[in-house]
Amino acid sequence: MLLYELLGMELEDPFIVASGIIPNHGSSMREFCIQYRPSAITTKSFTLSPLDPHPPPTVIKVGECYMNAVGLANPGKDGLRSLDVPCKLIYSLAGSSPEEFGELASLVPKGSPIELNLSSPNRRGMGDSIAPMVREVVREVRSHTDNGILVKFGPRDDVVKLAGRALEAGANGLTLINTLKGMAIDVWEGKPILTYGTGGISGKCIHQLAVRVVGEVYREYGTEIVGVGGIYGWADAVELMLAGAKVVAVGTAIIDRGPTVLNEIREDFHRFLEEKGINATELVGAAVR
Ligand SMILES: Cc1cc2nc3c(=O)[nH]c(=O)nc-3n(C[C@H](O)[C@H](O)[C@H](O)COP(=O)(O)O)c2cc1C
Repeated sequence: MLLYELLGMELEDPFIVASGIIPNHGSSMREFCIQYRPSAITTKSFTLSPLDPHPPPTVIKVGECYMNAVGLANPGKDGLRSLDVPCKLIYSLAGSSPEEFGELASLVPKGSPIELNLSSPNRRGMGDSIAPMVREVVREVRSHTDNGILVKFGPRDDVVKLAGRALEAGANGLTLINTLKGMAIDVWEGKPILTYGTGGISGKCIHQLAVRVVGEVYREYGTEIVGVGGIYGWADAVELMLAGAKVVAVGTAIIDRGPTVLNEIREDFHRFLEEKGINATELVGAAVR
């Protein structure tokens, strides 16, 4: 099978697991890795100190969408240090200052790509709220590590500008897109369904948004992009690749349809390539060049 590559990490094919879908706690990631053999798994975002989830419910289905307010729950830097998973990993990091990102980055094993979460909408002072500090965050992380750096943004109006700042500051690529903030209200109760109030929208209904953002950023910078957002089938993945994604990450579909969906999508994708008589790299950015 064709060997694929992202920021120097060899992959079996362009399909990886998106951040936050498999918990960092306990044996979940290990079991998923052994049973389903994804090309790589992105960890849930690690912060320096452990964070508890927001009060339940934290993940709900609303029509064709999902909304989550997990709130970056994770076991903190000790959890990062002790992670022992026999799959390739991309380490997602979150923090509230450049220094916190720098300290976490220095704990990531050599050679593993780092994904800087500057986009989650579910924890005040982190994620999307510090996206405007992208330059300082990337510079600080770069001063601690030679590992490949991806910066993950949500579908912000200024995403093209911020992506440019990330690359200028030393990032090697981008992950696009994270969830976007929404609210669902129980009309009988007259209050938000998520106890946190708001949540990040993911799944099918953000797919076209992801394709547009990946296309705009790829057209501008032609850089390495991990495309993520509403991949439920092989054609969704192909669409994101045609818009400029070199690698694609499956997220909500794994929660919604179960983990076997990942390998169904992969098999269908390889059948598509065979039928077209092309290899995956030929797809990247072909629709927006
Ligand atoms: C339950 C849940 C938890 C998530 N946690 C994180 C996280 O910790 N860090 C992060 O960068 N993205 C997180 N995400 C966002 C996903 O990685 C992805 O960017 C987003 O869900 C869009 O892709 P999808 O539509 O395929 O799910 C989370 C998504 C979900 C549904």
